[in-house]
Amino acid sequence: MPQDTITVTDNRTGQSYTLPVENGTIRAMDMRKIKTGPGDFGLMTYDPAFMNTASCKSAITFIDGDKGILRYRGYPIEVLAENCTYLEVAYLLLFGELPNEAQLKDWVHDITHHTMLHETTKKFMEGFRDNAHPMAMLVSTVAALSAVYPDAKNIHDPETRLLQIKRLLGKVPSIAAFSYRHLVGFPYIYPDNDLTYTENFMNMLWKMVEPKYLAHPVLARALDILFILHADHEQNCSTNAMRAVGSAQADPYLATAAAAAALSGPLHGGANEEVLRMLDEIGSKENIPDYIEKIKAGKGRLMGFGHRVYKNFDPRATIIKRTAESVFEVTGPNEKLDIALELERIALEDEYFIQRKLYPNVDFYSGIIYQAMGFKPEMFTVLFAIPRTVGWLAQWQEMLTDPEQKIARPRQIWIGNDTREFVPMDKRGK
Ligand code: ACO
Repeated sequence: MPQDTITVTDNRTGQSYTLPVENGTIRAMDMRKIKTGPGDFGLMTYDPAFMNTASCKSAITFIDGDKGILRYRGYPIEVLAENCTYLEVAYLLLFGELPNEAQLKDWVHDITHHTMLHETTKKFMEGFRDNAHPMAMLVSTVAALSAVYPDAKNIHDPETRLLQIKRLLGKVPSIAAFSYRHLVGFPYIYPDNDLTYTENFMNMLWKMVEPKYLAHPVLARALDILFILHADHEQNCSTNAMRAVGSAQADPYLATAAAAAALSGPLHGGANEEVLRMLDEIGSKENIPDYIEKIKAGKGRLMGFGHRVYKNFDPRATIIKRTAESVFEVTGPNEKLDIALELERIALEDEYFIQRKLYPNVDFYSGIIYQAMGFKPEMFTVLFAIPRTVGWLAQWQEMLTDPEQKIARPRQIWIGNDTREFVPMDKRGK
């Protein structure tokens, strides 16, 4: 008997089956051999919310949730956050290797020269209501790019794919900044090619009448680090949406819009906005114990706590906490941080949170930093979507070039009625 197999006995029939085990996994399709008779469809697995199902093989991002490890293409997140720029990490995620000096120069040049939006896209954005949520504007405008770049449909051509990737990485910050300017009623600011990726984004957000906007270098670097931390996170909800929509061979603008839509949910990228609301609701340190009791009684969740895969700590949260210190040295002390630190301390000592392995996730501190830097809470999820765009695109490309992937199409367990007699309207009662 080969060692890398598992033998299961079907007690319904008494028959045994030996199934191969590869990478600690059995193929769900192998279960279909397990039947009670020739008319039987075969055994399926039932896994709502994909709690224990691998949907792909991937070489992009590695997470060990129990040990609190996160690596992009084999490099620990801590090392990348310390030594790289966001665009360098974006290159790594997409191409699998860190760029050399010449490659990075070309890459930065290419992304920088794709930051302009077509004027019709600008006009499209102007059509939103003045109080439109920036995330809704981002999702819709990214989808609308599909109409601007019809060549994007040619998803099987690597060169066309790369062009759309550069366009998306260049344009998403511009769309994000325009959506913010729209919300606050300021004129849109065009990109400035002299600036780095994050400096230019800050320029498009905050430039007023000065001839040139120069971001504070500490804040620009902090944002760059936050972008690195958010660049990819393997098969999360939005990445799964990207892969699922992309598997139908929709173009990358539409698939990215679908991924961004998934990210907007409060249980996913929307959590950082919720953390700020929660800290406002708590108001002061004295109210924390009561608030925690309320959560433990099942009235709501501690936003920014808990994670589907990290059951020890979220390594991104540790780096963010350090980044927060450098930001607050520039922006001054922050009362919300004091409440957050105390909330974290109390929660980490509480049996409820210990038992359920609930630790602060990436969103717990990111919102506080963003607010101190001058971002409105409505922008927080947008600030997540900008850097995650590269993760979605790297995963999309990996999916398209994986010969095992097909259109994503789960099965269901039917729990509804068997065939029923049709009831005419006059017999349906009142
Ligand atoms: N506060 C209080 N209790 C919680 C929390 C929380 N934040 N998170 C989970 N729990 C409890 C649940 O009530 C459940 O308790 P029970 O066993 O008594 O019923 C237990 O912990 C397990 O929770 P699940 O919902 O099964 O865990 P799951 O892995 O499905 O959920 C999630 C993960 C969605 C992140 C959850 O922890 C949550 O809602 N957190 C708050 C929202 C948040 O911060 N989201 C950001 C995630 S990070 C990201 O997307 C970038």
